[in-house]
Amino acid sequence: MQTAIDDSGDLLQLAAGAFDGERDPWANAANAAALIFQLLPDLNWAGFYFMRGGELVVGPFQGRVACVRIAVGSGVCGTAAERRATVIVPDVHRFPGHITCDAASSSEVVVPLVSGDRLIGVLDLDSARLDRFTAADARLLESLAEKIVAACDWRLAGIDGF
Ligand code: SME
Repeated sequence: MQTAIDDSGDLLQLAAGAFDGERDPWANAANAAALIFQLLPDLNWAGFYFMRGGELVVGPFQGRVACVRIAVGSGVCGTAAERRATVIVPDVHRFPGHITCDAASSSEVVVPLVSGDRLIGVLDLDSARLDRFTAADARLLESLAEKIVAACDWRLAGIDGF
């Protein structure tokens, strides 16, 4: 069985391979969500919300049907977007304003996607396990977020400000 560290190394390497020569945001986000869901253990949702028309709108993901629109400042996603900083939530039931998409979710991590002074969206992972996400996971996902921000031409996706 692979260790979590090996899986995380694979994640960045495989993402770089998937993004290579491809600038389309939907294509790269779809493959990134699939890789995350496939390689990181104990997830029940992994995907993106993008800034479109002044709010976060769901993008490519793996998992159960999700809420489509989230206001900046609302829930874990909107909080990470507003702060432009990663938010780790060990127990979503203790996070004021948490938005429930899948009742099985117990913990969550949200990483913003930022290019210069522009907020592109967020990368959101949920787990049915309490306290699933570590600082090391957050750093890994921040590296992945940097890679996807650099890999895509965001003008192709109708993202606010592009
Ligand atoms: N729980 C999130 C909503 C998105 S779903 O988890 C996919 C939140 O509180 O923003």
